[in-house]
Amino acid sequence: MRPLTHKYSPKTAKEIVGQDEAIEKLKNFVAGFARQKKKSALIYGPSGTGKTCSVYAIANEFGLEIIEVNASDFRNSEQINQKVGNAIKQQSLFARGKIILVDEIDGLSGHQDRGGIQAITKLIENSAFPIILTATNPFDNKFSSLRSKSNMVEFRALDYLSVYSILKNVCGNENIRHEDEVLKMLCRRCSGDARAAINDLQLLAQDKKELTKESLGELSDRNRTDNIMTALNKIFKTTDLKIAVSAFDNVDEDLDEQLLWIDENLPKEYAKPEDLARAYEMLSKADVFSRRIRRWQHYRFLVYINALITAGIASAKREKYKNLVEYKPTGRILKLWWASQKAAKKKDIAGKIAEKTHSSKKEILKSTMPYLPVMFRSKEMRGNIVRELGLNEEEVEWLTKASA
Ligand SMILES: Nc1ncnc2c1ncn2[C@@H]1O[C@H](COP(=O)(O)OP(=O)(O)OP(=O)(O)O)[C@@H](O)[C@H]1O
Ligand SMILES: [Mg+2]
Repeated sequence: MRPLTHKYSPKTAKEIVGQDEAIEKLKNFVAGFARQKKKSALIYGPSGTGKTCSVYAIANEFGLEIIEVNASDFRNSEQINQKVGNAIKQQSLFARGKIILVDEIDGLSGHQDRGGIQAITKLIENSAFPIILTATNPFDNKFSSLRSKSNMVEFRALDYLSVYSILKNVCGNENIRHEDEVLKMLCRRCSGDARAAINDLQLLAQDKKELTKESLGELSDRNRTDNIMTALNKIFKTTDLKIAVSAFDNVDEDLDEQLLWIDENLPKEYAKPEDLARAYEMLSKADVFSRRIRRWQHYRFLVYINALITAGIASAKREKYKNLVEYKPTGRILKLWWASQKAAKKKDIAGKIAEKTHSSKKEILKSTMPYLPVMFRSKEMRGNIVRELGLNEEEVEWLTKASA
């Protein structure tokens, strides 16, 4: 299932809804780059309003190549030179033009990453190509030098009618039946975040090709899985440990489920065996801690576990994987649950026999239980067994299956 946000990501600037002024500014900045005093643009504004996709749409329209750099790459000046090095030097006559995109600079901290922010500033001074930075909040003190060197371009939270026009187009193309009023309700809920609105629509309407008022009501439930997927996305995709470490902060799932979700989806994301091995090392340490908590109630280990499964797993990769992965809940939970349910029934029955025969459950499990299904096959004995032991419906069902 391909994310609809991806499928409907604008290909040209015209398709970007509700940000006309900002788009105009950006286009002028890129087109007239040679004459610009300030060599970078800093796009800022709330999440899901089109900051990143606008850069791609404009590049596409102008036939420019995008070199995307992670803000966290700037922590290490060697790394950044390696990545951007030649890209920023004067272009040859025939080479394609470029835009250098440093997406989401928010993660850089002023204190530890002063070097990083300086490195970006230097890049701006030396680059022969337009540099575009994005941030949700650029007004932090730490960014003051970047602000003064950049053309500031504001993206606004989208009003609900803009979001509505985006979703209307998606519904049309995907043949999703809907009442306009219900679609508008969905749009009002997303507080100007088009990404969230498209994701909600996909969650609610993709299967049945219909958006109903009832399904809208289920949204709060579904948001739980939505949340854990957002968390996984953060951990797997970022190389910024500060972003990773807070991934589970707003997630409702308990620790065991978090571990299982990671376990299930990790191999789909980390393609390189070294990355995968390092990540599983983190996960297995987390698992050890989680058992210690359970056995000895050492709750302070929870902090370690969180660090291991967020920052630990995020840092296990050498660079981020760009492919899109659809995260799935683990099938293992269900299998484990079935297995433990079955074991539980068996133990219950053994307990009843133990009581009647004045022996231990453990003994019965060993000596009698292997033969019980065989005895249960005989019609005459079956009634006696059920009556004598007082088996309930579920236990009878278990025995019937076991003797089949
Ligand atoms: N103004 C818009 N017009 C059309 N589609 C949009 C717009 N804003 C967002 N979208 C849709 O939402 C998706 C996500 O947008 P985008 O990645 O550009 O958000 P962003 O502002 O960079 O958010 P963040 O701050 O979280 O990185 C896009 O791929 C597109 O499908
Ligand atoms: Mg973005």
